[in-house]
Amino acid sequence: MYKKLFIPGPTHVRDEILQAQAVPMIGHRAKEYSDLQAAVTPKLQEMLYTRQRVYLFASSSTGVMEGSIRQSSLKRTLTTVCGAFSKRWHEIVVDNGVPCDKLEVEPGQAITVDLVDEALSKADYDAICLTMNETATGVMNPIQEIAAMIHKKYPDVIIQVDAVSCMAGVKIEFDAWGLDVCFAGTQKCFALPPGLTVCAVSDRAREKALKVPNRGHYFAWSMMDKHYEKSQTPATPAISLIQALNVQMDAILAEGLENRWARHLEMAEYTRAWARKNFRLYGDERYLSNTVTNVENTRNINVGDLNKELGKRGAMISNGYGDLKDKCFRIAHMGDLTMDDMKWLTAQIDDILGL
Ligand SMILES: Cc1ncc(COP(=O)(O)O)c(C=O)c1O
Repeated sequence: MYKKLFIPGPTHVRDEILQAQAVPMIGHRAKEYSDLQAAVTPKLQEMLYTRQRVYLFASSSTGVMEGSIRQSSLKRTLTTVCGAFSKRWHEIVVDNGVPCDKLEVEPGQAITVDLVDEALSKADYDAICLTMNETATGVMNPIQEIAAMIHKKYPDVIIQVDAVSCMAGVKIEFDAWGLDVCFAGTQKCFALPPGLTVCAVSDRAREKALKVPNRGHYFAWSMMDKHYEKSQTPATPAISLIQALNVQMDAILAEGLENRWARHLEMAEYTRAWARKNFRLYGDERYLSNTVTNVENTRNINVGDLNKELGKRGAMISNGYGDLKDKCFRIAHMGDLTMDDMKWLTAQIDDILGL
């Protein structure tokens, strides 16, 4: 039986989107492909409120995280860690030999404007890594405010934002906020299968990257730029996924961006209210995620057993991530899930646990 995915990625993919991949193959140097990329790119720009470039990488987000940090800094990078996924980004920076320091908060806490300000004042940084939605803890960091402070006080710092588990689910005004790099894989709020990453890059980040030696090849903005005007990519793109993305972007724009952000917030508020009533919310309540809710397992339920029972009814949620396994469980409310889905899911959990 198909289990509807209420996990924070991959998430539930509608039949129409699955079918959109099953169209005849086209050559990636053919006009048909250029037409496809030329059709989908402005839709992505509209969703990200940007007039700057949006690239499509045949890779999961981790590849783009690595590619971005390799071409954003000539001096030092500040990494910001508030959970397992932002920690992973720090490790990628270290593994690539990029000079860096880490600003770290306890899991469940947010990376705040004041903390970033204090950390950036300590050394000559020219790049920062920020995770907008920490999928492991269910915390959403105040990226708009952090970016505004950076532009005012540290204007040379390239602002790289991992929006993996919130892009297409929350508003990200790439140009107005002054972001330099912002990316997400398609298996989360885009509600597509995995394997494709959407990445917006500012003009100033592209210019800076040209000065960075050893900036890599596959993810180099300069490599993408060689083909961008032709609406192509240097390496073979994930054509089937881009076909599906094009159909999904039509649906996203037809829903209306403000409606889409409001739907995600409504699902989040409903799930939080359910969690508060029956368990407890994990983390700082001022910074809760609009796309995934991390519930503290105050009743000491067996999360594995709950998921087994849910599986029999056609649903799947996530255990806590890493150290939070069994101490928490996560319910995602992203992509094409609806309020009806969330009400159905919580009713199933209520029934299984006798709440
Ligand atoms: C916030 C965040 N960043 C990065 C990643 C890594 O993405 P991927 O495994 O698709 O490369 C994830 C995956 O869940 C994530 O949630």
